[in-house]
Amino acid sequence: MLLVVVVFSIWNMLDTEPVNGFHKPWEQAVPLQPVPEGLQSLSAADCGNCHQEHYREWQKSTHALAWVDPQFQAEIAKDNSPYMCINCHAPLQNQQPFVVTGLLEGDIYRPIKHANPDYDSLLRQEGITCAACHVRDGQVVARQVSGRAPHASRADARHLSEQLCISCHNASAVVTPDLVCSFETGDEWRAGPYFGQKTCLDCHMPAVKRPAAAGSDTTMSRLHYFMGSGIPKHDTLTTERLDGLVYDLSGIKTEYGAADSIVLAITVANKVAGHRVPTGDPERFILTVVTIEDTAGRVVQADTFRIGEKWVWYPEAHKVADNNLNPGESRTYQISAHLSPGHFTVRIRGYKFRTTEEMVRYNKLGDDYPTHILFYERTRPLRVVAPA
Ligand code: HEC
Ligand code: HEC
Ligand code: HEC
Ligand code: HEC
Ligand code: HEC
Repeated sequence: MLLVVVVFSIWNMLDTEPVNGFHKPWEQAVPLQPVPEGLQSLSAADCGNCHQEHYREWQKSTHALAWVDPQFQAEIAKDNSPYMCINCHAPLQNQQPFVVTGLLEGDIYRPIKHANPDYDSLLRQEGITCAACHVRDGQVVARQVSGRAPHASRADARHLSEQLCISCHNASAVVTPDLVCSFETGDEWRAGPYFGQKTCLDCHMPAVKRPAAAGSDTTMSRLHYFMGSGIPKHDTLTTERLDGLVYDLSGIKTEYGAADSIVLAITVANKVAGHRVPTGDPERFILTVVTIEDTAGRVVQADTFRIGEKWVWYPEAHKVADNNLNPGESRTYQISAHLSPGHFTVRIRGYKFRTTEEMVRYNKLGDDYPTHILFYERTRPLRVVAPA
């Protein structure tokens, strides 16, 4: 201990705190981009003058909301929020008010900041804007170049691949004891059965035939909704959605004898997603709610099943439970019911949660910030027969 104090004082006396480089890619912004030749600006709205469909789709994506999202804004306003959050949520240097040239002693809480004369505050509002993925070295980057664009373009199939997605969707780092980045979607995909078969793009940017720009001929194109959980960021927005889970209700019989032990089996399987479900933000979870209702609609029994991670955040963040479903994995819920003879309805509902009401209140996100959606609802008739 003493030695540490002495060494620390000597550092201070000499005023030679070492400035370290960055060790994680997201500790740095994407370098400053000049506007590619042939274009007026980097703004998505301007790209949208010619790429109208891409623009409309992207506007509905959470990428477009990655900066303005109220939860993100609430989190970065906190004192313990490090500078580097912005590098995945508004990743271009052009979108950031400061240029960070290094970290004092490699500490993310001591970035060396200089004012950025090229800062564009409107572009920052666009979050993960077109240029965040498509502009590098002052050129529009595409998987293939048509030769018909009025702007400077170059082909880079490696950049515009799942590598680009994984550069943001795979971060696992304890930032401070109570602040953790834990998105391992890339690793989950690499470890699963879709690796080498289907990439992020195949599922999240499905291929369609259409003109790539207004007035162009039809070509191979990809949808830009980046559809995922489908949980919107505002209750007036709708988002395109993918569902990873499939329910099997064949374990619910229509008739049981009153003397039998009545057991309903419900199986849920991750048949569609190329990674675990849920993936990404550790706050996400899936609830399956099974109710048994009598003929008057009264709920006589209710059971709830949760799929997700559980974390303890204070005083030190750590994961305490994780029952997310791997690709292909299934889970069966057995429900014992205690019913008298009569007719009933079994109702099965699936909900996806992005966060909880508690977090919404804690972060003061307002009444119109959606926490969840209902993605599945079915009913099955059930009759309990009196003994003869
Ligand atoms: C003035 C109209 C216009 C604007 C503005 C514009 N583009 Fe394009 N872009 C086109 C046309 C036309 C094509 C060729 C489409 C075709 O025929 O396949 C194209 C092609 C592309 C391609 C495919 C590569 C290529 O060269 O064929 C990408 C990617 C692209 N644009 C992205 C963008 C982005 C990102 C922006 C904004 C930073 C943007 N474009 C702004 C008209 C425009
Ligand atoms: C390595 C890239 C990266 C960094 C750095 C990063 N994020 Fe994110 N963030 C993501 C990705 C990817 C998602 C989407 C995950 C998902 O949808 O489950 C996300 C989602 C979020 C969300 C939305 C969660 C939800 O469920 O809607 C918030 C809020 C957020 N991040 C806050 C932060 C804060 C605060 C920091 C800095 C401590 C930060 N992020 C740093 C990549 C990053
Ligand atoms: C610059 C970083 C970055 C890149 C590159 C990126 N993402 Fe994201 N992505 C994010 C962040 C941050 C969010 C969450 C935004 C929010 O919730 O506010 C997100 C959200 C998503 C979601 C929506 C999750 C949901 O259901 O709400 C999907 C799906 C997604 N990204 C897929 C992709 C795919 C596919 C690619 C590659 C083509 C990609 N992303 C590239 C950072 C990135
Ligand atoms: C998260 C990254 C990301 C963002 C944001 C993004 N794109 Fe793309 N875009 C891609 C990828 C990846 C491809 C390559 C798909 C392929 O060819 O396999 C692509 C392809 C394209 C193409 C070529 C034709 C096609 O549809 O495949 C055009 C044009 C294009 N994007 C325009 C835009 C415009 C305009 C915006 C903003 C409104 C935008 N993109 C936002 C990742 C992105
Ligand atoms: C085989 C198809 C498939 C592949 C491959 C795939 N995804 Fe997904 N992804 C899905 C489905 C389906 C969902 C919806 C899960 C749900 O919410 O029910 C999803 C959801 C998501 C979400 C939202 C979080 C959630 O739990 O809903 C993110 C973020 C995401 N994917 C990113 C990626 C990235 C990044 C890759 C590539 C490394 C990728 N996905 C590869 C099908 C796929």
